[in-house]
Amino acid sequence: MRLVRLLLALAATLLVSPAFAQVMPNGPVLSAADLRASQDLSGQWTWSIDPYRDGQAGFHGGDVGEGHRRFDDTDVAGVRAAKPLALYEYDMDAASVATLPSSWLTHSAQMRHYQGLVWYQRRFDAILDPGKRTFLRFGAVNYAAEVWLNGTRLGTHEGGFTPFAFEVTGLLREKGNRLVVAADSQRSDRDVPPPVTDWETYGGITRDVRLHTVSGTFVDDAWVRMAADGTIAASVRLNGEDRANLPVRLAIPELGIIRTAVAGATGEASFRFASPKRLVRWSPERPRLYRVELSAGDDRWHDIVGFRTVTLRGSEILLNDRPIFLRGISLHEEELGAEPSRMVLHADAEKLLGLAKEGLNANFVRLAHYPHGEAMLRAADRLGLIVWSEIPVYWRIAFDDPQVLEKTRRMLAEMILRDRNRAAIAMWSVGNETPVSEARNGFMVQLANDVRQLDPDRLVTAALLTGREQRGEKRVVTISDPLADAVDILAVNTYFGWYGSDRLEDIGSLVWDLPENKPFLFSEFGAGAKFGLRENGPSPGKFTEDYQANYYRATLAMADEIPSLAGMSPWILKDFRSPRRQLPGVQDGWNRKGLVSETGERKLAFDVLAQWYRSKAAEAR
Ligand code: GCU
Repeated sequence: MRLVRLLLALAATLLVSPAFAQVMPNGPVLSAADLRASQDLSGQWTWSIDPYRDGQAGFHGGDVGEGHRRFDDTDVAGVRAAKPLALYEYDMDAASVATLPSSWLTHSAQMRHYQGLVWYQRRFDAILDPGKRTFLRFGAVNYAAEVWLNGTRLGTHEGGFTPFAFEVTGLLREKGNRLVVAADSQRSDRDVPPPVTDWETYGGITRDVRLHTVSGTFVDDAWVRMAADGTIAASVRLNGEDRANLPVRLAIPELGIIRTAVAGATGEASFRFASPKRLVRWSPERPRLYRVELSAGDDRWHDIVGFRTVTLRGSEILLNDRPIFLRGISLHEEELGAEPSRMVLHADAEKLLGLAKEGLNANFVRLAHYPHGEAMLRAADRLGLIVWSEIPVYWRIAFDDPQVLEKTRRMLAEMILRDRNRAAIAMWSVGNETPVSEARNGFMVQLANDVRQLDPDRLVTAALLTGREQRGEKRVVTISDPLADAVDILAVNTYFGWYGSDRLEDIGSLVWDLPENKPFLFSEFGAGAKFGLRENGPSPGKFTEDYQANYYRATLAMADEIPSLAGMSPWILKDFRSPRRQLPGVQDGWNRKGLVSETGERKLAFDVLAQWYRSKAAEAR
């Protein structure tokens, strides 16, 4: 083991060498894009399935025939009317209509289990603004996207949960623009996540699509935060021809702060100053946010930001220099309801995070297993919930493939650059339950180092694997994962009493042998229960609410015995769709480990956890 750790450390130093320069998003960052003025392209889109990818290759694999080129800027009906012998086998203008953003699972009953390629088209008029630049930004397309505007191919993006943008200056016209997106949810073993997960693949254009018109030179990437030493820091990168030596003004009006810096040759400017006494630091009890403004040339940028420090002291996590126990819950980005889709609306995020905060007395959420939408992160900032944010490096990834590493690093950068102004986010997770191998270790260490390069003020974590051994009478659980050395916070998913043969009455006597110098989290634990399925008596069966409640009592009792436990995010707040779960009459396509049902009914275990958190909170006061 020592040799493995030495090799890892060596790999770590090698991997951060320039040869492994930071992988950045293709295209602009457009920080706080959701607060920038924009033309929102949500609404009526037409869609057309293409299971055989007819629009991507001819039947012999060559170029796509004219009659199948759905990305062309062609008025098919007009051409057909003018040339009756013309052969078109699509017409995006006349195709079915759906309201986007939303996953195609809810477009029609037939689409409920569709995985593959769907073509989308949006027609729109635009206000042309000479001298300005326009970017087309997608909040997310699951899984891969190829985009055309007025017949011009803009490019592609891979990864279902992070934003991307293309410059469309000069491509727009005033009337009848034709935006075509090929959205493909099919994943291979070379994708992230891989094809097999334990959640529903919500294919489609699942987040906002907006046109942002900005000045020729504008604030593209802006990172404003309280650094670990309590000072306020801002790093700005301008995009545009006039970026060199341009003065940049930073203001926090409520604090009477105004600072100016001059951008360097590459358009980068930075600020660092003491935080004023009257600044109220962000915390779950007091999620104070401030409007921060930047101006450069005639560009105006703003974000709503909280200021706080997150640091470590041995096995303690310190928020604003005070130890904090993370009373958490995990959740997927899925709406409440019997027929959910991928969550989009702020109101839905507020509802679920409100349930966690007010109902469970939580101060922490693990947003699993992929970057959730801006709506969720901003709601966590506003409501005061600390966040674990993660990229979908989940189970088996092609760790030995450099291209897979490259695309994963890009996803990580896209996530961090989109969200690093969110005070709520305390830690970035680089993966979940990934099997130990040399290739995997190197892969994960690279990701951990990327996090430290992109955001040295936050903590790195991952859901690690545990080992079990018998030491005399004792049954001992250890963290047998070499990745433990590369993360700041140790986290494990534990399911003793649900998976495996342990009885609930046995788990209390499990001994956890853990490194003492690092905080330890239960990133998951949980048991399934179908709402309303009850069984009184001494040993209720699995999937009853009674068993789930007993499971929580036993696991929380075990947690009480772990000195370095700094928090937890049980699995999971709400029952969620999973194609892997098919026990008739109980699961029926749902993972039933929620503390509430898919429609929000509270199960017995909800109060068991809420009560435990209430007493934890009282202890901390
Ligand atoms: C795993 C995994 C989750 C999954 C859960 C479960 O640990 O991380 O994505 O849903 O266990 O089995 O319910």
